Amino acid sequence: MKIDENDLSDRTIAGSEKNEKFAESTDDFEIKHEERTYQQWKGSNYVLPADEEEKRRCVFLTSARRLDLQHLVIRRSFGNKFIYPCVKISPGDRVLESGAGSGAWITEAAKVLGPEVQIDGFDIEGRLFPRHPPPNVSFCLASVTELPAAWTGRYTFVHQSLLTAALQRPQWEVALSEIHRVLKPGGWVQLIETGGTWNVVGPYSRKFLTMYERLTARKNLFFDCVQQLPDLLTETGFTDIHVVERDYGCDMSLGTPEAADARAGFIGMLRGLKTPVLKLGGLGLVYTSEEFDADIAGIEQEYSTTPNSCHHIAMILAQKRE
Ligand SMILES: C[S@@+](CC[C@H](N)C(=O)[O-])C[C@H]1O[C@@H](n2cnc3c(N)ncnc32)[C@H](O)[C@@H]1O
Repeated sequence: MKIDENDLSDRTIAGSEKNEKFAESTDDFEIKHEERTYQQWKGSNYVLPADEEEKRRCVFLTSARRLDLQHLVIRRSFGNKFIYPCVKISPGDRVLESGAGSGAWITEAAKVLGPEVQIDGFDIEGRLFPRHPPPNVSFCLASVTELPAAWTGRYTFVHQSLLTAALQRPQWEVALSEIHRVLKPGGWVQLIETGGTWNVVGPYSRKFLTMYERLTARKNLFFDCVQQLPDLLTETGFTDIHVVERDYGCDMSLGTPEAADARAGFIGMLRGLKTPVLKLGGLGLVYTSEEFDADIAGIEQEYSTTPNSCHHIAMILAQKRE
């Protein structure tokens, strides 16, 4: 494993002069590897794949697909609640999920909310949508930055999870105003997001954090959106903003099935960064496909054995004024 020693001194180098210089570099060469499949939506910067591997059954202790597993771990992070308790959804209401992915959240919402609540999901990539959704569930292709005009004022509740890896700051502003537009007066939006950071407990978690910071800088993604979303929501016209911050699942070094799930979900996400990172020449951190894979094995080992191995996640809730 090669590590830039200058990066080991501080917990995060986001925004440092060094990182900015690196982010400006244009002399990339692609590192050869077996490329995964990513969505093709014009103008999208989403850095995670939409392929069979994202759908395939996980090879770790659990048998869930990565996105299903991610949903399970997020739910556990918030005391098994997947809709914030103050939100009231009644028969006849409509619910929307932005970035519906594999439909893990929608499938659960459909069971809990019952057949009289219509739930619509959209995503820029339809490859992972469930093939046989229940009758009150629909999926379509759309971007949160440009929702259909006919949806204005239609929804009681909009849920969106982990678009930090997809949207630049100006796109967040547009996305929030689109969500605001499609909500009914008094409706709620629920955003699940990470600040992008995780505890650095050893050389591998440091290396992957630096890699993620460099990748998001190169794609101009909104790395620290969790800190700034409450202000952006206020500027968009939302009110009654709640922020609940938690560890992603639990300490990933605990020898429990829950810790194994959190590790598998999180490391599955890191594995998905391989193609964007190698296409950018390894961002000064990895030099071969094999080295990336060895680093993934390294972080798995580091997280399995090092106390306080935690990733962080936040649930942000806001209401459209009556
Ligand atoms: C972390 S996944 C969310 C998974 C989903 N909540 C689930 O339960 O399976 C993020 C999703 O956002 C989608 N996405 C990225 N950019 C988007 C955009 N501009 N509009 C809508 N969806 C987007 C991605 O294709 C991906 O499926």
